[in-house]
Amino acid sequence: MLGGKNILLGITGGIAAYKTTFLVRLLIKAGANVKVILTESASSFVSPLTLATLSKNPVLSSFVKEENDTIDWNNHVELGLWADIMIIAPATANTLSKMANGTCDNLLLATYLSAKCPVFFAPAMDLDMYKHPSTKNSFEKLESFGNKMIAATSGELASGLHGEGRMAEPEDIVDFVKQFLSDGFPLSRKKVLITAGPTYEAIDPVRFVGNHSSGLMGYELAKEAARLGAKVVLVSGPSHLKIEDDLVTTLRVMSADEMYDAVHAHYETADIAICAAAVADYRPKIVADQKIKKSSDDLSIELIKNKDILLSLGKVKKNQFLVGFALETENELENAKGKLKKKNLDAIVLNSLNDLGAGFGKQTNKITFIDKNSTIKAFDLKSKAAVAVDILEEIISRINA
Ligand code: CTP
Repeated sequence: MLGGKNILLGITGGIAAYKTTFLVRLLIKAGANVKVILTESASSFVSPLTLATLSKNPVLSSFVKEENDTIDWNNHVELGLWADIMIIAPATANTLSKMANGTCDNLLLATYLSAKCPVFFAPAMDLDMYKHPSTKNSFEKLESFGNKMIAATSGELASGLHGEGRMAEPEDIVDFVKQFLSDGFPLSRKKVLITAGPTYEAIDPVRFVGNHSSGLMGYELAKEAARLGAKVVLVSGPSHLKIEDDLVTTLRVMSADEMYDAVHAHYETADIAICAAAVADYRPKIVADQKIKKSSDDLSIELIKNKDILLSLGKVKKNQFLVGFALETENELENAKGKLKKKNLDAIVLNSLNDLGAGFGKQTNKITFIDKNSTIKAFDLKSKAAVAVDILEEIISRINA
């Protein structure tokens, strides 16, 4: 969400300024480009050198820049245009009042007036200052300009008093900005639960029953759901794939039983669940404690049925939009429709093994999307990333209908 975004952080003179070092770290970790402007009094609370090191950019505090015997100026208009987002944290009562009234007596304020991007401010002050009608007036005025207030929280204040006025924690400031950015995305505020990959069912400590699923289809679905603004829980069987995205939480499991538990722990709060995992239908009845020795000429392993995770989700389904996959070799449409009904699904994605380029271990897939009203839509052979786009488009059009 914040990757590649240009973020201008304005720091004003309050004790909460010391927390901005963490804020800069979080923004950089999220992939943002960060420039910091300090007011003169802010530099008494937090070191410009620390902020320059963390942000990987020079810290700016005055209009005039003196370097190697030359005098130049820090261009507030350019800074304002550079920023995709401006955050003022901590925002003191003094700076808020100046912002609300168009005062422009330092670089931070001049840049604020020049900025065309969304501006967020996180007030921090003592409780009586926070409650004062003139401060409230500043909040209201700034919000009427379209600036977003990240409200202070209650707690112990630097004065020793208890009350409202503590700056929001850096993590909460980052979450607030991310939420703002994701609003307007088709899956913002939605939780999507996805299963992916194979499951490995232990025979003994070193061997297992498994399959060749790479997990790619499920991982592409997770990436696409996050790109559309969803919070994603990806429950993955063994796979070498990984996703670096703040919106995706990957829970790694080994067996079908572990996948069942992880999926059920997240299902109730999910809005959409997509089971793309190739779950082993059977597991060894007895798992040997020690490695099985090759003592006899033949060896039989008795298998028992695993729980059907998708079926179990269909049974307890409330408002979730539940999607399954079906890999078929014959009577494809009829079999897929049968599974959709039996497992109480809202839709099923059919892969036919008869289609060249579709299925396990391939980079491409060819699917037919079938919903519970028997609307059938067949797609061309595409990369699994493009298939993920199609599947989520179909789902979104139905949850919004
Ligand atoms: N599935 C599951 N748990 C299982 C088996 C399957 O959640 N123990 C899910 C898969 O993730 C997929 C769907 O069920 O979304 C269909 O799986 P598939 O193996 O094709 O169908 P089955 O119902 O197992 O029937 P069969 O193997 O007999 O075709």
